[in-house]
Amino acid sequence: MRESLRGEPETVKIIGRSPAIKHVQQLISKVADSNNTVLIQGQSGVGKELVAREIHDQSHRQAQPFVVVDCGMLNENLLQNELFGHQKGAFTGATALKHGLFEVADKGTIFLDEIGEISPTIQSKLLRVLETSTFRRLGSTKDTKVDVRLVAATNRDLHDLSKEGIFREDLYYRLNVFTIQVPPLRDREDDIALLARHFLHRAGHTGKEPKELAPSTLEVLGKYEWPGNIRELQNVIESAVIMAEGPAVEPGDLPLSIQEESGPAELDLTTESLSLKELEKHYITLLLHRLGGHRAKVAKVLQISERNLYRKLKEYDLADISLRPKR
Ligand SMILES: Nc1ncnc2c1ncn2[C@@H]1O[C@H](COP(=O)(O)OP(=O)(O)OP(=O)(O)O)[C@@H](O)[C@H]1O
Ligand SMILES: [Mg+2]
Repeated sequence: MRESLRGEPETVKIIGRSPAIKHVQQLISKVADSNNTVLIQGQSGVGKELVAREIHDQSHRQAQPFVVVDCGMLNENLLQNELFGHQKGAFTGATALKHGLFEVADKGTIFLDEIGEISPTIQSKLLRVLETSTFRRLGSTKDTKVDVRLVAATNRDLHDLSKEGIFREDLYYRLNVFTIQVPPLRDREDDIALLARHFLHRAGHTGKEPKELAPSTLEVLGKYEWPGNIRELQNVIESAVIMAEGPAVEPGDLPLSIQEESGPAELDLTTESLSLKELEKHYITLLLHRLGGHRAKVAKVLQISERNLYRKLKEYDLADISLRPKR
């Protein structure tokens, strides 16, 4: 169970200066101080929860609870019990009154993550809370009134789900009053370096970690597609920090999958217009990527001296790719 009451202020802020994330930040500051329901949509790991927290932090509810509920993690009965609570004796085992999270979040914000996963029963109860600001604990005959701001998130297309009859259309329209679409990382190229440095600085524990990212590493990171978005970038940087042995994170410290995907483009050998120099440059680039920028290894494969390789790197303007310290 991941739902929790997070009263203490978090220090993580939304990092980014790309036009796409600036737009998100503008939307947040526009909607934050209203009581509007907000629907946050976006792929896995793009920062939806961070956006939700920022909405809460910029609202007049900031000093009140911010309650996170991961709707995808709990089955219907458990989720219902968590959200709405129960009276003592409502069912066997209900030995005491349990306050629902809607009560816990009173005057504050409730964040329903993965809202596309909730069952029809809970969908209708949720609609009722949104329409009347009241709900009933299980086993109770009395309504409980609350003042809660709802922020919901999903990585699914709620509109599609409502068309398929899986998600109530009336609830969808209720939720969709104000939507924030969080863009995937590949549409925020300007942010990759910023975020990577942020995670690099956070990863340090022993003081021996690399202090910077080599320019060639940033180049590799910028070319990758990031299907897992910011969470994936965070994991990649954390593992690269462990791998790195020098003062900077080199391309060779990154997971192989990332090095390979961002390698040099395929060479078209059918054109018959390629000079020997171009072919040589391409092959050296390829080897540098394959061998993690390790010059000694590249020289060995090419059967030339490291000194000779170094000259070629300069000639072809490739010196930057190979920043891994020679050992
Ligand atoms: N713009 C950002 N600046 C700094 N950290 C970020 C940013 N966006 C996301 N993160 C970090 O990336 C991680 C994933 O973000 P978050 O949990 O908010 O994503 P999510 O969209 O809710 O993902 P999921 O769909 O998997 O639940 C978190 O550790 C978060 O702090
Ligand atoms: Mg999330």
